[in-house]
Amino acid sequence: MSMNYSSYLQHPVFKVASEIVTEEGLEAYVIGGYVRDLILGRPSKDIDIVVVGNGLDLAEKCAKKLRVKKVSLFQRFGTAQFVYKDLEVEFVGARKESYRSDSRKPVVEDGTLQDDQNRRDFTINALALSLHKDSFGDLIDPFGGMEDLENQVIRTPLEPAKTYSDDPLRMMRAVRFASQLNFKIERKSLEAISENAHRLEIISRERIMDEFNKIVLSNPPSRGIKLLYATKLLHEFFPEMVKLQGIENRNGKAHKDNFYHTLEVLDNISEKTDNLWLRWAAILHDIAKPPTKRFDEKVGWTFHGHEDLGARMVPKIFKRLKLPLDHKMKYVQKLVRLHLRPIALVKGHVTDSAVRRLLFEAGDDIEDLMLLCNADITSKNEFKVKRYKKNFEIVEQKLRAVEEKDRVRNFQPPVSGDLIMKTFDLKPCHEIGVIKSRIKEAILEGEIENDADQAYKLMLEIGEEIGLKISGKAEQ
Ligand code: CTP
Repeated sequence: MSMNYSSYLQHPVFKVASEIVTEEGLEAYVIGGYVRDLILGRPSKDIDIVVVGNGLDLAEKCAKKLRVKKVSLFQRFGTAQFVYKDLEVEFVGARKESYRSDSRKPVVEDGTLQDDQNRRDFTINALALSLHKDSFGDLIDPFGGMEDLENQVIRTPLEPAKTYSDDPLRMMRAVRFASQLNFKIERKSLEAISENAHRLEIISRERIMDEFNKIVLSNPPSRGIKLLYATKLLHEFFPEMVKLQGIENRNGKAHKDNFYHTLEVLDNISEKTDNLWLRWAAILHDIAKPPTKRFDEKVGWTFHGHEDLGARMVPKIFKRLKLPLDHKMKYVQKLVRLHLRPIALVKGHVTDSAVRRLLFEAGDDIEDLMLLCNADITSKNEFKVKRYKKNFEIVEQKLRAVEEKDRVRNFQPPVSGDLIMKTFDLKPCHEIGVIKSRIKEAILEGEIENDADQAYKLMLEIGEEIGLKISGKAEQ
């Protein structure tokens, strides 16, 4: 039975394209992700239209009728694109592609709709809806993509080995769609991915990471990452994460599997946030556990300093993975460095000064750090988890109370360098730093309040102690 989806194609872009296609006696189709998402009821902002013939011509005619001024033409690729309202519309001539094994660059020729569907990655991405008036909205589904959508299966239109070798990025895409849509990857496909995982080497890091980040942003992300691990795709670009896997047992003492723990933390935090970089902090929080692992006869396994080494590993990992090296990296680095601090408070005795120090160091990222810390509380022992979570609430209350009183979250020195210079008649010198840092320490320790008068008084005391003379011009 042929299906018709004309009622889904109410957007003016389709109406206009249909008029032109019909007038000119052309064959054109909406194809790919847009059709898939339409049927799944997912929002989509990119429309792909494939024309048997010249895509550029149709794009220009549609744009003119829609009064769109700017059309980007890519002659060499035979594609054209414009933006209409909030939609990005791309036109392409139907193509037949063949690939050589040593390159991603395909040899491209004009082709039929069937050729174009053959070269696509998955059956669910090869669905096409006709735009010609006589068949408007008819579904062309040569590979059973509709059935796969219903059965929630990722399957390639051709032999999986061929589809993946044509473009190895598709192995990442298979996992990404499986994770985003909560679909299964067909067994034959999964085997082909495992066999061909090493071919990811010809794909640029940026494209790999685009897919990986989509997996990280899917819910729950662990499903996709477990698939990457099982197929050994993860081994190709993220060996540090792979190294987290495994349990060692000595003298009856075992440590937890840090790979699965990390995934648990990532899933936990993903329930609270869509912030990609906070999710990355979860991925990396224990990344230095393997290189810091030691066995101590008395206490068992230790990972001393893994938070500091982990923070130092962050820039290297970001650089290699072509992730941004700006404030986003710094943010992840900071959270990795501080991730044990709230936990230490939760498990131990909470003093005001420890809370103040934490606020001071975390600054505006304190809430995110607390989310990470909360997500990090995983244990098979429910009683332990309950107790930690309860303590955790106490720490949060304390954080609020201390911040209200002392305002150290965005700490500004209550005594400025200028005032110190004026008071003691100094030129810029080392002593100014010493005084400022001792005042800061006194506030964090709770010896004085974060208050200009108290800080001024302390400044005079410190000055006297280190042998500075008060200037005649000094005034408060
Ligand atoms: N495609 C492909 N092989 C690739 C990339 C894309 O066959 N490596 C085809 C698929 O038919 C896909 C279409 O090109 O549906 C558009 O690709 P893209 O915009 O990257 O993905 P979408 O499927 O639209 O999904 P999303 O918007 O979620 O990225």
